[in-house]
Amino acid sequence: MKQKEEQSELYAMAEAHPLTIVANSPGMVFQYIECENGGHSIPFVSDQCLNVLGIKVDELKADPSLLLDLVLPEDRESLRRSKAHSAASLTIWNWEGRLWIESYGDVKWVSLRASPRREKGVGVIWEGIIINVTQTKRRETELKESHKRLKEVSAHVMAAVEHERIRIAQEIHDDLGGNLTAIKIDLDWLGRHMGGDGDNPELPAKIRTVSRMVDRTMHSIQRICRDLRPGIMDFGIAAAIEWEAGEFAKRLGIPCEISCAQQDIELKPDAAVAVFRIFQEALTNIIKHAQASYVWVRLNVVREQNTRHLELEVRDDGSGITPADYSKFNSFGIRGMVERAGLLEGKLTVSGQRGQGRKGTTVHLSIPLASGEGNSITAGSSAARSKTARPKA
Ligand SMILES: Nc1ncnc2c1ncn2[C@@H]1O[C@H](COP(=O)(O)OP(=O)(O)O)[C@@H](O)[C@H]1O
Ligand SMILES: [Mg+2]
Repeated sequence: MKQKEEQSELYAMAEAHPLTIVANSPGMVFQYIECENGGHSIPFVSDQCLNVLGIKVDELKADPSLLLDLVLPEDRESLRRSKAHSAASLTIWNWEGRLWIESYGDVKWVSLRASPRREKGVGVIWEGIIINVTQTKRRETELKESHKRLKEVSAHVMAAVEHERIRIAQEIHDDLGGNLTAIKIDLDWLGRHMGGDGDNPELPAKIRTVSRMVDRTMHSIQRICRDLRPGIMDFGIAAAIEWEAGEFAKRLGIPCEISCAQQDIELKPDAAVAVFRIFQEALTNIIKHAQASYVWVRLNVVREQNTRHLELEVRDDGSGITPADYSKFNSFGIRGMVERAGLLEGKLTVSGQRGQGRKGTTVHLSIPLASGEGNSITAGSSAARSKTARPKA
């Protein structure tokens, strides 16, 4: 009962003193008029004026242009445009910008929101509020900065990993490869000098077995080196993708249809490596998860007005994917692809459905090409090409 009485007392106070509520609101409430004769006035402004703008209520009422004077010169045009748009369309006046506050000795970010109405014989009248959003803006800027730094670190780590791969590939090739070649030469020599009277008759067969093992190890070394640093990259991204798709079809026994509108796509080395790694991860995912029976790959340079994009699409007819799959806590393959695309200012999407009908999964990559990139470099060889890499019979 007592609580009810207290409540109705509060309601009565609010009705009697609405200005108290306005004065205590966390922002400067105002009424602004743009008169038909071109003049302007601020008939009402709440007491928060001093806190928000550092100007006394009476001063602002007497001279409304004081508000504009506070706006940093570089933000004045956006204020003028947002007001003109609101007046013309009679939609909410929405503006965010910076003010120089003398008493603060610093710049303050504010957000202005006001609803307009047109009154005949008067002009456009706005009622609204200006709020200090400096803290939010600062946090936003810090977040953007930290995001930028993270991106730089990520780019650095990826570049370091690629360089390390090249170094390891070189070492394996030169050191292990070199030693195996020497062993192979010695084995051949032994083979040629064996078979004398006192020799064990099993020795020539043993030498042939070891020689075959050396050959297999050499092939493994070639494969490992190729995975670490695909030499095919030297022939361009289209050739690299065709070659990788061919290997995939041979190894997995799944046909892979490749359509490539332009053969000689010249990309910056970092971008080429990133696109290739994205392609490799898409194929690895098909091997690991899709149980697909067919794969389609499309590589294209798309022209839109003045911009050009490299587009890569890898589609399978496998089990499909759901958003829950690609946001798995411990899965980093798709996240890595998205990250790599982001570092190239591009976009990567993964789509698909799971369930009956086997809709499969589509990975789509689009990256903007800088001027000079994506050009055909060898005359006559840029014709569209479509072929299917088939598994070995
Ligand atoms: N082509 C695909 N077909 C079906 N499922 C897929 C495919 N690609 C990815 N997935 C699903 O998305 C998940 C996340 O993939 P990814 O981020 O590459 O991590 P990982 O391969 O290590 O699991 C996989 O675990 C799998 O469930
Ligand atoms: Mg994966």
